[in-house]
Amino acid sequence: MDSVQTAYAFSDVGAKFTRHSGILELMDDLGRAMTIHPDMLMLGGGNPAAVPQMQALWREQMNRLMADGDAFDRLLANYNPPQGNPHFVAAFAAMLQRELGWPVGPEHVVVTSGEQSGLFFLFNLLAGRVDGRPARRILLPMAPEYIGYADQGLSEDMFVTLRPTISWPHGEEAHIFKYHLDLDAVADRLAQGDIAAVAISRPCNPTGNVLDHDELIALTELTERFGVLLIVDGAYGVPFPGIVFGEAEPHWAPHVVHTFSLSKLGLPGTRTGIIVGPPEITAALGSMVAIVGLANSNLGQQLVLPLVESGELLTCGPKVLRPFYAARSLAAQNAVREFVGERIDQWAMHESQGAFFLWLWLRGLPITTRDLYQRLKERGVLVVPGEYFFYGLAEPWAHQHECLRVSFAQAPEVVREGIRLLGEELSCA
Ligand SMILES: Cc1ncc(COP(=O)(O)O)c(C=O)c1O
Repeated sequence: MDSVQTAYAFSDVGAKFTRHSGILELMDDLGRAMTIHPDMLMLGGGNPAAVPQMQALWREQMNRLMADGDAFDRLLANYNPPQGNPHFVAAFAAMLQRELGWPVGPEHVVVTSGEQSGLFFLFNLLAGRVDGRPARRILLPMAPEYIGYADQGLSEDMFVTLRPTISWPHGEEAHIFKYHLDLDAVADRLAQGDIAAVAISRPCNPTGNVLDHDELIALTELTERFGVLLIVDGAYGVPFPGIVFGEAEPHWAPHVVHTFSLSKLGLPGTRTGIIVGPPEITAALGSMVAIVGLANSNLGQQLVLPLVESGELLTCGPKVLRPFYAARSLAAQNAVREFVGERIDQWAMHESQGAFFLWLWLRGLPITTRDLYQRLKERGVLVVPGEYFFYGLAEPWAHQHECLRVSFAQAPEVVREGIRLLGEELSCA
């Protein structure tokens, strides 16, 4: 989808939000594939899979709500306070305290209309110009990073990103690599004094990387030392929805802001994000919710409330989602070995540790991944070109033109056929 063409004069903010952006293209492709072009092989956007046990659980919860006429009427007829439904917010804080030992109360929690808008509020609350002084910025310490952050800044150049280091955990001949934090580079960048917060998705969208526990602790200590917030985006992560294939622990500290979402549990339609952080931050986010949207949708909060109260919310991952997506990841990896690995020598994929994407590194690709995306779209396959995930780097990096994100959330036969066509296209590229 192209930028919006208009005869009317848009403000700078208007112009910024209507020019071409990766997230607009991705969500437009995704939305069309899920509605009017169901024949597209959808290896593109981040739509969660239809997981039968989760679908049954949400239907059961919806029936519970509808069976209680008064509660159902209240759900539809009343605005919540901007911070979220007080019963939900209290239950959520109590769950974190009971199940994880986090010293948090309702004042640490705020609900937003999807995690995406929560992140928009958070980034713009913290970064930008303060009293005419140079702009403060958000540091993303490990490029590539989530495409959905890239265009969220009301201020220009909100994001600064750093290159990771790369290792080959099973030897280069296994074709599996892993990104790591360059902690020295992070410390050097923080020392420049213009960083308002550091943010990282864990698991990472697009790579499926899960920041190691030691790296997470080091980053927590470093941000504390420099007096900046650490934002950990747990859209796919721990403690829920738990789409993490190895061991990973969430980590609480007073200056860490955790951002959560109900989407990858199978509820993106409810648009529910939950942010847990210092009370002055959550109160500020509540003000922003009131000004921009008055209140949030109540539906997601009410659907999951009993599972928050019982703690079952935290078991859906290990019991259902983790094995489900781990199996899909394995099938997709096998298809890549068969259809891509057979055709080209210079390929690798990031170690698949969580979320539902394979991150392919097509080394020495003679065309850009944007061109590859176009060619594949013409053949009925949607993927996301890697270029979009490398915004904010100080210097260009050849690697950014050689990567591709492939979602494995759709049915295995769809993913396999999409990867087969990718292999064919690569041998002609
Ligand atoms: C890393 C990451 N963060 C945040 C979000 C936003 O999720 P939502 O707005 O659906 O809650 C997504 C969605 O795909 C994501 O991948």
